[in-house]
Amino acid sequence: MNMPARLLIHGASGRMGQALLRLGAAEADLRLVAAVNGDGQAAGGHLPWFAAADIEQVPDFDIAIDFSRPEGLLPLLALCRRRQARLVSGTTGLDAGQREALTAASKHVAVLWAANFSLGVAVLGALVERAAAALSAWDVDIVELHHAGKRDAPSGTALRLAAAVAGGGGRPAVQHSLRAGDAVGEHCVQFSGAGERLELIHRATDRDVFARGALFASRWLAAQPAGLYRLEDALGAALRGD
Ligand SMILES: NC(=O)c1ccc[n+]([C@@H]2O[C@H](COP(=O)([O-])OP(=O)(O)OC[C@H]3O[C@@H](n4cnc5c(N)ncnc54)[C@H](OP(=O)(O)O)[C@@H]3O)[C@@H](O)[C@H]2O)c1
Repeated sequence: MNMPARLLIHGASGRMGQALLRLGAAEADLRLVAAVNGDGQAAGGHLPWFAAADIEQVPDFDIAIDFSRPEGLLPLLALCRRRQARLVSGTTGLDAGQREALTAASKHVAVLWAANFSLGVAVLGALVERAAAALSAWDVDIVELHHAGKRDAPSGTALRLAAAVAGGGGRPAVQHSLRAGDAVGEHCVQFSGAGERLELIHRATDRDVFARGALFASRWLAAQPAGLYRLEDALGAALRGD
């Protein structure tokens, strides 16, 4: 029997980190070995906690799962390279330098970054690209709604959907970001033509969706060589329409 993959949860006291600690603890083929957050103040889970400033002191791990803040990414990437560990990251709001750092690290270790770890959103992206190809003269609007505490706008998912529109050859998408209440995440891609409108909508109602997706991606990444991967790679050929 294979040894369970050892997981480091980065951003463990946050909304996503807490879901990962709860769901990850129930998986027999995964083992949580350490938690990192900004201040190192323990927030549950039967495992050692470390402040971001002390990240070099974490015990050995195979995969880091990161849902934190953009400024935490570079130290984590450096650690993953030194420990030859893989990285699954869902942190959004990355700047160009941080995205380049992900690419550079992926030459040495396996890295999977996704703006949205839900299976439904991955399928939405594929559908949007096909719709954009067929309706290339139509106006395109992307409307996204997230809870009031979300810092970045447009959301990382909205940016990926805009890229899917562009990839299909559609007109540049206009972004509309709403921040209100406790909405987990909703994305509507609206194609408007003369006398008709097509709306493709995804609604996440439970944050566990993203945590389950990140755990799914971690299992898949555990067997991959160095490289930069997308959630679509983990989902396989069916999604790509091969
Ligand atoms: N890709 C997806 O599917 C997906 C889904 C949901 C959210 N997200 C993204 O994931 C990120 C986290 O979301 P959230 O809602 O969980 O945020 P959150 O509740 O604000 O939690 C942020 C976490 O990051 C920690 N942190 C802050 N600075 C850090 C640093 N320098 N190094 C390490 N950890 C640090 C915080 O620790 P302290 O408490 O000590 O500050 C906290 O544990 C955001 O970028 C969000 O947009 C992505």
